[in-house]
Amino acid sequence: MPVSRIPESFIDDLLERVDIVQTIHQRVPLKPAGREYQACCPFHDEKTPSFTVSPQKQFYHCFGCGKHGSAIGFLMEYDGLAFTDAIAELAQAVGMTVPETNINPERTGKLEQMFDWMQSAASFFQINLKQHQPPQAYLRDRGLTGEICAQFKMGYAPDAWQALSDHLTQQGATQKQLMDIGLLAENEGRIYDKFRDRIMFPILDRRGRVCGFGGRAMSDRGPKYLNSPETPVFHKGRELYGLFQARQGGKPEQLLLVEGYMDVVALSQFGIEGAVAALGTATTEHQVRLLFQTCDNVVCCFDGDRAGRQAAWKALQVMLPQLVAGRQVRFLFLPQGEDPDSLVRKTSAQVFLEQVAQAEPLSAFLFRHLQEGLEMSSAEGRASLVARAAPLLGQLPAGAYRDLLHDELENLTRHRLKVGDVDLKSSRQRQTNTHYRPVGKTLLRQLAALLVQQPKLAEQLDQHATEIVRSQKNAAPVLELIDFCQQSPQISTVALLERWREHAAAGLLAELVTWRIPDTDSGQQQELAHVLQRLHAEQLSARIDTLTATQQQTGLSAEQKLELRELLAAKQQVQNLQNQGSA
Ligand code: UTP
Ligand code: MN
Repeated sequence: MPVSRIPESFIDDLLERVDIVQTIHQRVPLKPAGREYQACCPFHDEKTPSFTVSPQKQFYHCFGCGKHGSAIGFLMEYDGLAFTDAIAELAQAVGMTVPETNINPERTGKLEQMFDWMQSAASFFQINLKQHQPPQAYLRDRGLTGEICAQFKMGYAPDAWQALSDHLTQQGATQKQLMDIGLLAENEGRIYDKFRDRIMFPILDRRGRVCGFGGRAMSDRGPKYLNSPETPVFHKGRELYGLFQARQGGKPEQLLLVEGYMDVVALSQFGIEGAVAALGTATTEHQVRLLFQTCDNVVCCFDGDRAGRQAAWKALQVMLPQLVAGRQVRFLFLPQGEDPDSLVRKTSAQVFLEQVAQAEPLSAFLFRHLQEGLEMSSAEGRASLVARAAPLLGQLPAGAYRDLLHDELENLTRHRLKVGDVDLKSSRQRQTNTHYRPVGKTLLRQLAALLVQQPKLAEQLDQHATEIVRSQKNAAPVLELIDFCQQSPQISTVALLERWREHAAAGLLAELVTWRIPDTDSGQQQELAHVLQRLHAEQLSARIDTLTATQQQTGLSAEQKLELRELLAAKQQVQNLQNQGSA
């Protein structure tokens, strides 16, 4: 079953235009290594880089854990995207438009419809804000301009049980559809609008589509904020409020991770762009990925109170495994009772930015936090610090940043760290395929490796050659590959692999991409001929063995004797050819 209805030719074209090195480098900084690029694998824990990206093949492969794939596969794995979403993301990056009618109509059609209704709801709330005085007064009292409210598409959910549902059902939505996207709530059989009498903050996904809402109460009635529940289009831990806006003006210099919707909007109003908020949850690994995909420089602004410090500490822990060299995280703790919104209003953008510039480096916060309650002048205190720091430093990916923190810990404790002090292995619980073993070389696999990497070689294979292949055990996938390559000799390696994504042999083919084949056309043709000769020799030997066995057991018929003689002659010939080839 095809994974999607996106035309294969579109995927081929997309893979032609996308550069996998750039795609990955934005997420995992790569270093050049010969003709390829390398990094420590983002999918398993390692100290020396075995994650390799090939610009020629437009393919990545980790020799440590065996993960591999195209740019599409990387986004699926790393960003946790669905196949069609990964394609949409890449297409957007290179300015291509995914042919709309063809995207997996059932599922995507449904999702698109959900996004449409979310957008309709957002528009409804926006119109209602224009029509109601109290929310306008509330926003004005909080110092928000109409301009900034419009920029963030803020709105108002009227104080009624069915205002939104009436409006949207008139437009053709069903109650179930609105339920599915979290706009309705149900209580004891009664179904009603979830958001009532609230200031509405639409949450935009990375493509700018409304995927969820945060709704702030205007009075003390009910919880201060209500958020959209998890729905097929909204996963709270995977979105950051304000990220779409932060990315609008190109790559921001720095991102400010703040706590609230209001903080994002207020900072923007004061001209401070790049503020994003985790949606009232503890910062997730996924959100940290989104941050670093946007920019290498992140400042976390948290409340200086106990809860704020705890939230900051949690964020730090989630960030550690993603702190490869070149990324910088700092922490800004605001005075008691202040948040960026209140602070920037009390002072000014300039004062706020000065504070940001003086934010505490992650390492300083880390050691300060760990030293709390320890007597650093005593040997016990210092030993405790090492014990507390070890599991955390162990989570850092290998590289300059980890070395730096190591040095700092050494300085603080005046203690030479021994290898065993910092447990580099156990602390990270990544899913690692520890059973990965490279597949062994066989002639058929060598043949397949040539074809995957150079599909046009299949044009050299005639009837005789395919018969030789057919005589081998487990030849079916290779025959299929030959057939495929003969039909699309111009296809690129990575496009071929994408077409084979669902095939049982996909994993094997991907691995064959990493095998070395000769650089030149003639070298490749020679190797192909050589592999075929050896396959032919094997085919002959197998038949010779069968006939010799029969000869010993029951004797041979005249016909079989003739065949045996011919086989032996043929084998001799092949061997001569092989000797010539290797001479
Ligand atoms: P805050 O209580 O700091 O609110 O919560 P705020 O954003 O500063 O809003 P104002 O200034 O009081 O209007 C920070 C974030 O925590 C989540 C929201 O995402 C909020 O922006 N939160 C807070 C909830 O989800 N539910 C709540 O009841 C409260
Ligand atoms: Mn606030």
